[in-house]
Amino acid sequence: MSECKALMVNRGEDKSISHQIETIKIDDLPADGDVLVAVEYSTVNYKDGLCLGGKGGLVRTYPHIPGIDFAGEVVESKDPRYAPGDKVVLTGWRVGEIWWGGYAQYARIKADWLVPLPDGLNCQQAMAIGTAGITAMLSVLALERHGVAVEDGPILVTGAGGGVGSVATALLAAAGFEVAAVTGRPDVAAYLQTLGAATVIDRNRLMDGDSKPLMSEQWAGCIDSVGSQMLARVLSQMKYNAAVAAVGLAGGADLPTTVIPFIIRGVALLGIDSVMCPFDRRVEAWNRLATDLPKPALDAATSVIGLSDVPAAGADILAGRVRGRLVVDLNR
Ligand SMILES: NC(=O)c1ccc[n+]([C@@H]2O[C@H](COP(=O)([O-])OP(=O)(O)OC[C@H]3O[C@@H](n4cnc5c(N)ncnc54)[C@H](OP(=O)(O)O)[C@@H]3O)[C@@H](O)[C@H]2O)c1
Repeated sequence: MSECKALMVNRGEDKSISHQIETIKIDDLPADGDVLVAVEYSTVNYKDGLCLGGKGGLVRTYPHIPGIDFAGEVVESKDPRYAPGDKVVLTGWRVGEIWWGGYAQYARIKADWLVPLPDGLNCQQAMAIGTAGITAMLSVLALERHGVAVEDGPILVTGAGGGVGSVATALLAAAGFEVAAVTGRPDVAAYLQTLGAATVIDRNRLMDGDSKPLMSEQWAGCIDSVGSQMLARVLSQMKYNAAVAAVGLAGGADLPTTVIPFIIRGVALLGIDSVMCPFDRRVEAWNRLATDLPKPALDAATSVIGLSDVPAAGADILAGRVRGRLVVDLNR
């Protein structure tokens, strides 16, 4: 084994982005990583769409191998925590952005960034969960820590048809919560019900009418992938002492609201970050995912593609056309 297949992204002098599947030398992988992993599966997340399209200023140096998460088997390790044959998972740490990532059959990576594959999951299932799924779990854990309980009332999930939203819907429903799933795509309603959503709300209906700082109290909690005006609307509809886990910005990075929901209803806005999340919390989240996420829901949320499908999938996810989770099989 001295070479492997990789999806390389290049940027031309005119700033145009191109993608090629290339054969690269294993020796050309980042030299300062201490664990070499044979990547079995990666995924396509929203951030991968940005990296694949050269958007958001995330990738600074070209040629580049994107892929913000992967699962596979350790081949070589200079770190005592890992040995050849160990199965591992990688999410975050800006891998796939400023460090070559999971869209290659091998990745050389820092041992500190890895998590052992939890019992009860194989590599494909771990990547069906991936960055989106661990972020959904971190959000559920944050709501739990805040004290949100099943008897408090329904929980809203925005961007429910996407990766974070799908896993969040399945996790919350499996925990017994009444989930109201917000989507802009009427055709994903049946899918969201399969994941356990009790109600599917049309995005336009949630946003209907004039925005006010306080509207009628409806939700005991929310996991929000959208941000911007939708997050502002959600905050205005939260019950007294409810909590919103702010995860994403699929609808925009702004937050056009007032402090009124926070100071009149005691609403908490909980920031969720999966990228620099400490090791112990990652392990806690992975262990909970392995036990709590129903495998049929995970299967329903997952489609498997090959490396050559990834550039088109990146464009699709930015356009909001991807349902659930896209797993990339590096050996397909
Ligand atoms: N904080 C973290 O550590 C972290 C980790 C992972 C992801 N994220 C962020 O979380 C967000 C979701 O990530 P993902 O991988 O789940 O992406 P995704 O699969 O593309 O899901 C995003 C969903 O948001 C909805 N959406 C898209 N554009 C919208 C718009 N203009 N207005 C309202 N809703 C819109 C769509 O759902 P419907 O079609 O169902 O409406 C879409 O499927 C992204 O912003 C991502 O960057 C953050």
